[in-house]
Amino acid sequence: MKEQHSTPHTACSSYLQPMRHIQTFSTMTVCITVFLIFFYSTLNLETSSSHKAVTEDHTELPSLQVQVQESTTVPQLKLRNVTVSDSIKQLVPQSGAYWNRLLHSALKNLSKGENPFRHVSDWSSCRVTNKELLKTNVHDFDSYTLLFQDFLESMDCRTPPVLINQPKKCFPASGDKEDNKLLLFAIKSRPAHFERRQAVRETWGQEGIKNESGIRVRTVFLMGSLQKDDPDLSSLLSFEAKHFGDILQWDFHDSFFNLTLKMSMFLEWSLKYCPHVTFVFSGDDDVFVNTPLLLSYLQSLDSSKASKLYSGHVLDTARPIRDSKSKYFVPVSFYDSTYPAYVGGGGFLISGALLEPLYSVSRVIPFYPIDDVYTGFCFMAIGVSPERHPGFHTFDIKWENRENLCVHKGLTLTHGRSPQQLQKLWRGINNPLLNC
Ligand SMILES: *[C@@H]1O[C@H](CO)[C@@H](O)[C@H](O)[C@H]1NC(C)=O
Ligand SMILES: *[C@@H]1O[C@H](CO)[C@@H](O)[C@H](O)[C@H]1NC(C)=O
Ligand SMILES: *[C@@H]1O[C@H](CO)[C@@H](O)[C@H](O)[C@H]1NC(C)=O
Repeated sequence: MKEQHSTPHTACSSYLQPMRHIQTFSTMTVCITVFLIFFYSTLNLETSSSHKAVTEDHTELPSLQVQVQESTTVPQLKLRNVTVSDSIKQLVPQSGAYWNRLLHSALKNLSKGENPFRHVSDWSSCRVTNKELLKTNVHDFDSYTLLFQDFLESMDCRTPPVLINQPKKCFPASGDKEDNKLLLFAIKSRPAHFERRQAVRETWGQEGIKNESGIRVRTVFLMGSLQKDDPDLSSLLSFEAKHFGDILQWDFHDSFFNLTLKMSMFLEWSLKYCPHVTFVFSGDDDVFVNTPLLLSYLQSLDSSKASKLYSGHVLDTARPIRDSKSKYFVPVSFYDSTYPAYVGGGGFLISGALLEPLYSVSRVIPFYPIDDVYTGFCFMAIGVSPERHPGFHTFDIKWENRENLCVHKGLTLTHGRSPQQLQKLWRGINNPLLNC
């Protein structure tokens, strides 16, 4: 990461000193070329924006500069034509903010019938390598945190290699009836979180058929890869994957800003390997889920509701946080509007029937650094509003009730529990002697 953050200027001058003549000459050639490319791209900016002014655009927004990509890899999935609801255009005004502009550019391309998959480039060349381009598009790019800069540079990276797959995860086990409904727990985890995963496996995430509801339960843990400063957990992880058969891993940096990528990879995976799933629960590995209550809720849904589920803890008046010390900080020059109504990412439900439209539209909507907000944008784009489920408490409950069994018996989801608390709560709520 360090090298990538040095500007072309400093990179060139630090190379110059120790080099011999020939190397100096070639380095200078590279530097001059870089300068010429930059100069040319500036010219290009002017021509393209004046062209825009003459043709159709009434606004005076600067045009977007894009890195030219060579090859594209279109996923082999068959996807329906994407249509995007007007509400997202109304929510996100055309403005100078980078994401606003990316969105409108993508929507314009879509309305011209262009392939929305075009920007999906090779994993090896997806990063924006020309920082000047980003600085042209985002005037205060230098003031962004390094993490946020990194997000902008890797926003188009959407095709990480698969490291660990579970292609048979959703196959019916022997004895399963064909028409059993399937609930898939898709839990965001990280390689180092073994203890959390094990607690989930032993408690609310247990796989199997739940007899009362007739719903089959399957569980996968979603993760990115180890980084070069992490201890090497790879042999443990591959043992874990073989032993439990529930790990999905892709080769990308498992960071907060890459959770949107994780969500997108899960959607793609579910369409390929679990296309008939009835319900998906997406959540964190430190939540407590009252699975019996969740299953009886799912079982109670009529079929029209069961196929349009986007429910959990709804946040409907959220806006970007402008405090640069916050984990959720988003600069005004990046996104300029309020947020769509969305459900908290700690745990929420999606109908299997919505995965395909969701995935298709996610190929048009530019990635956003906060994954649950991004999911909210995508649902808005497919015209599905989030629905409040009163039992989902992603911001958790009163401190004094954190281990209260009777409170948990009546709630579907609470957040921020240790593996030991999961065990206690699970045993407690399933104890027939529990008297509330
Ligand atoms: C829209 O199309 C233009 C021209 O093909 C392309 O350069 C640009 O990257 C596209 N915008 C987005 C957001 O994909
Ligand atoms: C649940 O179903 C399985 C498989 O059909 C069966 O073996 C098991 O005895 C059932 N459990 C209960 C509690 O009915
Ligand atoms: C996301 O993962 C890719 C691949 O590892 C990495 O290059 C990029 O820096 C990551 N982005 C963020 C914002 O962490």
